[in-house]
Amino acid sequence: MDRSELDYKHPYPSPELEAEHPFRSLDFVEYPPEEMAERAAVFETLMAHRRSPRLFSDRPVPRNLIESAIRTASTAPSGAHRQPWRFVATSAPAVKRAIREAAEEEERVNYLENRMNDEWQEALAPIGTDHHKEFLEIAPWIVVLFEERYEVRPDGEQRKNYYVKESCGIAAGLFVAAVHNMGLATLPHTPSPMAFLTRVLARPENERPFVMFPIGYPLPGVKVPDFDRKALDEVMVMVDEPAD
Ligand SMILES: Cc1cc2nc3c(=O)[nH]c(=O)nc-3n(C[C@H](O)[C@H](O)[C@H](O)COP(=O)(O)O)c2cc1C
Repeated sequence: MDRSELDYKHPYPSPELEAEHPFRSLDFVEYPPEEMAERAAVFETLMAHRRSPRLFSDRPVPRNLIESAIRTASTAPSGAHRQPWRFVATSAPAVKRAIREAAEEEERVNYLENRMNDEWQEALAPIGTDHHKEFLEIAPWIVVLFEERYEVRPDGEQRKNYYVKESCGIAAGLFVAAVHNMGLATLPHTPSPMAFLTRVLARPENERPFVMFPIGYPLPGVKVPDFDRKALDEVMVMVDEPAD
């Protein structure tokens, strides 16, 4: 039996709060239990098939699909609803070339001049990444997610944002899911340090690159590392009693 609002000693919103700020009824869709299980299984299977390719086709992708993925990502919950993200998109060959060249320069130092320590290089060995980033020019789109470290209001006033990294991480996850769901592929890419993206994309001081996404169709026949994912009991812990 569902509880009613009368069971709560502290209803939300309180009458005082609602007098000060607008509220609306939650638009919640409930499914019958069998349909819930079916939907859960379908989504789990869909997402289990997601992989990050490192060779993309140059087949064009219409801008409206990229916009849809960004709108979906932007539905993410965020600290104090600040939505502290900017998705900077380009399909312009000259911009993609500039990004590729700068990324390869940073990655050359990482991989060939040992800016990455041995442990890091060891972790990457099964993936076999290197400083070649041709896919950044070949994929039809690059979207760079910038975290908005603080908000700058039209009058120039600065306002703090909250839980910026957590919020951007969730938005990035939704973005990846949206891209996969529409039948495209993406590779979260972090050629660190990524400050060059601020310069190449002319972003303001309050934004910092978070992760870059080349997006497109995977090159037919592309290979990905033969990775399995952790089993449920490796990633889920059930707790039935408090520790103390
Ligand atoms: C935050 C983040 C940063 C990543 N950076 C890179 C990167 O710079 N280069 C790269 O080739 N892959 C990068 N990846 C992709 C991972 O290597 C990949 O997700 C992982 O190997 C699992 O493979 P899958 O995505 O196919 O499941 C990154 C992934 C995440 C989430």
